[in-house]
Amino acid sequence: MITDIVILAAGQGTRMRSAKPKVLHTIAGKPMVEHVINQAQSIPDSRIHLVVGHGAEQVKAALSDYSVNFVTQSEQLGTGHAVAQALPSLTEGSRVLILYGDVPLTPADVMTAMLSQVTANSMSLLTVELANPQGYGRIVRQSGAITAIVEHKDASDDQRQIREINTGIMAVSQSHLAKWLPTLSSDNAQSEYYLTDIIAMAASEQVAVVGSQPAFEQLVQGVNNRQQQAELERWYQRQLAEQLMAEGATLADPARIDIRGELSTGSDCFIDINTLFEGKVELGNNVTVGANCILKNCTVADGSVIEPNSIIDQSTVAENCTVGPYARLRPGTELAIGAKIGNFVETKKSLIGEGAKVNHLTYIGDAEIGAKVNVGAGTITCNYDGVNKFKTVVGSGAFIGSNTSLVAPVSVGENAVIGAGSTITKDVEDNALSVARGRQLTKSNWKK
Ligand code: UD1
Ligand code: MG
Repeated sequence: MITDIVILAAGQGTRMRSAKPKVLHTIAGKPMVEHVINQAQSIPDSRIHLVVGHGAEQVKAALSDYSVNFVTQSEQLGTGHAVAQALPSLTEGSRVLILYGDVPLTPADVMTAMLSQVTANSMSLLTVELANPQGYGRIVRQSGAITAIVEHKDASDDQRQIREINTGIMAVSQSHLAKWLPTLSSDNAQSEYYLTDIIAMAASEQVAVVGSQPAFEQLVQGVNNRQQQAELERWYQRQLAEQLMAEGATLADPARIDIRGELSTGSDCFIDINTLFEGKVELGNNVTVGANCILKNCTVADGSVIEPNSIIDQSTVAENCTVGPYARLRPGTELAIGAKIGNFVETKKSLIGEGAKVNHLTYIGDAEIGAKVNVGAGTITCNYDGVNKFKTVVGSGAFIGSNTSLVAPVSVGENAVIGAGSTITKDVEDNALSVARGRQLTKSNWKK
């Protein structure tokens, strides 16, 4: 059966105090609405409808990679009105799941379970008991059965004592929605068309409202302000940390790791404090990531050690390498097995060969450094003439003396030796010694 998923995202989110629409604010580096879409996407035979209003153009632009049907709600007249805008796009006889774009962490299995409760005479509602239910719609039950939702502003003192609240997430048949939504009235405390009023309609027509509760209240937590965003972020990061530990990684402190993307770890990895992982990061077995490192869209193979305060971006590190401390691997860096990048070294779009060492204070860009090459401290590949980038090739076994400038395009042959302080502008053949610097002049008994 077809499932229509309607995600409400037209509200302004005034309390975020932001120029950006609320649903584009992030949890774990990803816009909240994208979390919702990603979970919804896993439901088979489904179509996603996103109701947009405030900041619609920004929201559409941010989600242009997704196949989503955007429905515009030009005036925000309430949640019932919002769903009604999507009604013409829904498939006749489908099951409809209603989600909020600012409730980012509801997992797909909760959605699936709710959809399975939708029949010709039943619907599904996700509720939760809160210690402080202030502001939420209250779940009214009679002899255990859900008979209505009363919004906080419309509730009597007695009803405000109810701690079971409406998360807003529900599943219901298209035919019921088509029947009930046009009959909603805005005669209430907020003069809005409340989606929640369909619950009393269901009850009066003997359509059972099946209530279910999430495993954690954070799974249905909405974000209305920056404080709630930060709280949910920390909770979610803790879950990701727990999952990594369950998979066998050691975290020096599960409260001091941040994952904004997907991190996978092999066996026996050690991740120190204040580490940030962005995009897709894969660590092999026995990888160590030192304190204060940032790893983004990269792979680090078995046995490699990333020393503290290093940054690795769109790069690959093969087995048994050492990087850092204080190294920066920029996009396109590939380290072969056992390569060593030391402190204050920057690399970009370069291959560093097997067992090669670039230990101190060096820039290697647009270069191929062969196996077992030793690059001395302070060496620079001069790859840019202000207009174009040029390549430097260093053959295996070569020794580059300290403080050498390799002015690209240039190549240094295998096993060649470059004297310290050289400025190399011409190719050096295999096995040669090349020195390119002012000769030392010493005058004895010199007087000032
Ligand atoms: C709503 C529920 C309340 C529930 C609470 C849970 C109603 C009437 N009330 O209240 O029972 O406890 O959520 O957080 O449904 N939106 C639109 N268009 C609109 C109005 C809202 O797209 O015209 C979207 C908002 O962007 C938001 C969601 O719907 O994502 C909920 O709207 P909001 O105004 O936050 O509803 P609440 O008053 O919090
Ligand atoms: Mg709300």
